[in-house]
Amino acid sequence: MNKAFKRTLITSALPYANGPVHIGHLAGVYVPADIYTRYLRLKGEQVIHIGGSDEHGVPIAIKAQREGVSPQDVVDRYHAIIKQSFADFGISFDIYSRTTSDTHREMASEFFRKLYDKGEFIEQTSMQYYDEQARQFLADRYILGTCPHCSSDRAYGDQCESCGTSLAATDLKSPRSALSGATPILKETKHWYLPLNKHEDALREWILEEHTEWKSNVYGQCKSWLDLGLQPRAVSRDLDWGIPVPVEGAEGKVLYVWFDAPIGYISNTKELLPDSWEEWWRSEDTRLVHFIGKDNIVFHCIVFPAMLRAEGSFILPDNVPANEFLNLEGDKISTSRGWAVWLHEYLEDFPGKQDVLRYVLTANAPETKDNDFTWQDFQARNNNELVAIYGNFVNRALVLTHKYFEGKVPARGALTDYDRETIAEMLEVKGEIERALDGFHFREALRQAMSLARLGNKYLADTEPWKLAKTDMERVATILNIALQITANLSLAFAPFLPFSSERLLSMLSLEPLAWDSLGSLEQLSVGHQLGGVELLFEKIEDEAIEAQLNKLRKIRQEQEAAARVAGPVAPEISFDDFVKLDLRVGTVLECSKVPKADKLLQFRIDDGLGGRTIISGIAQHYKPEDLVGKQVCFIANLPPRKLKGVESQGMILSSMDADGSLRLVMPEGAVAPGSKIS
Ligand code: MF3
Ligand code: ZN
Repeated sequence: MNKAFKRTLITSALPYANGPVHIGHLAGVYVPADIYTRYLRLKGEQVIHIGGSDEHGVPIAIKAQREGVSPQDVVDRYHAIIKQSFADFGISFDIYSRTTSDTHREMASEFFRKLYDKGEFIEQTSMQYYDEQARQFLADRYILGTCPHCSSDRAYGDQCESCGTSLAATDLKSPRSALSGATPILKETKHWYLPLNKHEDALREWILEEHTEWKSNVYGQCKSWLDLGLQPRAVSRDLDWGIPVPVEGAEGKVLYVWFDAPIGYISNTKELLPDSWEEWWRSEDTRLVHFIGKDNIVFHCIVFPAMLRAEGSFILPDNVPANEFLNLEGDKISTSRGWAVWLHEYLEDFPGKQDVLRYVLTANAPETKDNDFTWQDFQARNNNELVAIYGNFVNRALVLTHKYFEGKVPARGALTDYDRETIAEMLEVKGEIERALDGFHFREALRQAMSLARLGNKYLADTEPWKLAKTDMERVATILNIALQITANLSLAFAPFLPFSSERLLSMLSLEPLAWDSLGSLEQLSVGHQLGGVELLFEKIEDEAIEAQLNKLRKIRQEQEAAARVAGPVAPEISFDDFVKLDLRVGTVLECSKVPKADKLLQFRIDDGLGGRTIISGIAQHYKPEDLVGKQVCFIANLPPRKLKGVESQGMILSSMDADGSLRLVMPEGAVAPGSKIS
């Protein structure tokens, strides 16, 4: 930090309110942001932590449409769930608001209008897909078609999810509207663009020269964007969910979600501090820090700063400590595929164990590269670290004090060299944690806090006060006094990371919250101080609980696989006229036999009410011919005849394939006259 800052404004990425939050969100953004905030608060610094839900954008509009509810219904539902999850996990926002608030809509609208009036935008018309049936322009996500790379017929206008390629809507072959199924036409539309190129030189200098201290993953991404050269970016969209573009003649257009959402940091600050928000955003002695995931880097380091520069009266971020991604048991976490550990479900299965998850996610945080969350690692870290080291040490120190000194802090006598070494090491932890946290190295900071617990654990194991109780009570008193001081310091060292446990530990020690500056002190507890009752700080997690979680994931995987097999994508919509062209009928099987030299084919003679016909069908591996005689089947009557193995087949018999690949004939539920039509 080379400037003198008076206050720190911390923001956490506003999560989309189109689903609950999962461990990936927590590990990537919210736990580190919360640790940092709590740390600065403990140091007595002036700090606020701003959060909220991101409630606009196309995915939310699509979800609402699919469910047949309004977008507002969708965001109301998830905003409540997300907000509750954050509260449950102790993510200590000073405000958690939302981008559908009046304050936000007003501020985002004014922000746009100011840039518009200053001439900071360029207006451009372009050709965009338009659905003539639904009478609206189609966002890229609303266009489906065939991927030019892998030929998947479910590619979206912005990306193919089968092969992962980014696409432009016009790249798709046979595009169709997700709204009506119609083939969209290209139609002219006008949008406002922020000319990022105009800010390129300033951004280059600001990031690449003045912020060389940024994390290398962040700095590297910025550099490659800047090296590619910046282009104007559209900041409006043709959509009916969002903040209307506040310009005449812009009916049906809204602000692009990535334009309005980051302004949410400002509007939520205003909602929190209606009278003093400006000093947090307009004063050079405020340090702004954005916590985000890696997919948000360009928006926070390039686009939003360009918006702020264009606006002219706001500060730019001082740091953007973005994390990489957390995977789950080897696979990418995915809300849409259900591959996640949802926070609200975790708490149902592990009530009261918020800190265990906070610990594991921090110890294994994806700080410099993507990382994997596994339930086995979760169990091991709980049992071998939280329980066996931290919990065990604290429990011994407290129980022994209750046993030998009726729970009153005993006095220290003469110190040994070993005591002095231990105390000196305890004193060092503060500097180590601070160095790590100041550099946003949360894993390292947590490791340092745990090293203090290790120190205490080792101290008691080495000094064995329980063996001295009969011979040297003065020595026991000294050892326990030191052990208790370490215990009190642990509650402080872990406070930013494991707030629930620190609070419980403080109550076992019967202490008020300690100030950060006192970390490492040998005078946290005065002689004679009466301790509170002892409980276990952490409990062992048994194999069964882990097995249950793994089973849950196995089930999700099986369901996904079965769904992919059985319920493939729905074919492109057809018109009713197309449907009635199909002549579907019921017929009675008169004869049925195997086709020689073809192990899959059965030859049917069908009574079709018109003198009979022959049909070949590929179901020999699923039925015995003799079992089918006399049964009624469904068939397509107006297909052109086709020769199979030398026999002419006059139609097709309908069957359905089960998840295991077996075929079942489709049959009428009761007997009908041969030749009856199906409609
Ligand atoms: N909703 C976005 C996401 O989940 C993050 C928005 S951050 C903000 O990726 F800056 F726009 F608020
Ligand atoms: Zn593809």
